[in-house]
Amino acid sequence: MNNNENLQNTITNNRNFMKCPEFSEAMSKSDQEKNLPHPPHGKKTQSPLIDLHPFTERAHNPIHEDSYSNLLDLRRSVRAYDKNAQLTQSQLAFILHSAQGIQEYRGQNEAFTLRPVPSGGARHPFETYIAVRNVDGLPQGLYYYAPTANIGSKKVSIEFLKTLRNPDEQITKMLVGQKWAATAQAVLFLSCVPYRSEWRYSEHSHRVILIDLGHVGQNIMLSAASLRLGSCCMAAYDQAVCDEVLGLDGTNEYTVYAIAIGKPQ
Ligand SMILES: Cc1cc2nc3c(=O)[nH]c(=O)nc-3n(C[C@H](O)[C@H](O)[C@H](O)COP(=O)(O)O)c2cc1C
Repeated sequence: MNNNENLQNTITNNRNFMKCPEFSEAMSKSDQEKNLPHPPHGKKTQSPLIDLHPFTERAHNPIHEDSYSNLLDLRRSVRAYDKNAQLTQSQLAFILHSAQGIQEYRGQNEAFTLRPVPSGGARHPFETYIAVRNVDGLPQGLYYYAPTANIGSKKVSIEFLKTLRNPDEQITKMLVGQKWAATAQAVLFLSCVPYRSEWRYSEHSHRVILIDLGHVGQNIMLSAASLRLGSCCMAAYDQAVCDEVLGLDGTNEYTVYAIAIGKPQ
């Protein structure tokens, strides 16, 4: 097969992957249907969590009371940030909660979680990591957002994972040379834990996971806009470098999206 035929086959396969499969008796049985226990809704943390300043208290409330249509006008991808500005912990907390906070459990044995974003089958197969460059009171480094620590509350807790060596250089490398992203105050990296969806939808999960991911991205961007912060989502990232820096095995969990957040220049 020549290169052109290979390319055409890949495009045909990828186009077909985007289509909804026929739902029929012939579909393979999922682990949920086999009565296997559901996977955890988040990762086990290793060190004491840091509670971010609340965004719900009047004194810290960073949210502008916009009309929804104003918010839609405000959202724009920003690629030039004020390098010396600082994010407040409350701003970061609000964005993280709007992305993946857990409002409640549902189902038998707490099999499902409800969050500010929708997710096919309420599976929410994502984890959130934060490369902090400049957030008030947080040392520079990589953090993990632990939504399972605060079910049904708007409290936001994160775990410090490690200091990033040469953070600007490392963030730029993770984002395939997109230097401007290393001027943002924080970059969120979303990873996918595919089994959380596969448990319910087996081989039909993966198309749905990608649809889910867009909802998470949109909540982050609109939340940033409501704080008068800029954001830009990125599908261009170095898979191997991101997985290595985030400490992911690349099979059961891997990077799927990155979003820069910061004060526009
Ligand atoms: C899935 C997705 C991936 C994107 N990846 C990148 C990226 O890697 N780098 C970048 O600079 N912008 C990226 N963008 C931003 C788009 O370029 C931007 O949304 C588009 O130009 C429209 O501009 P607007 O967001 O200001 O409306 C991405 C947007 C989406 C939705």
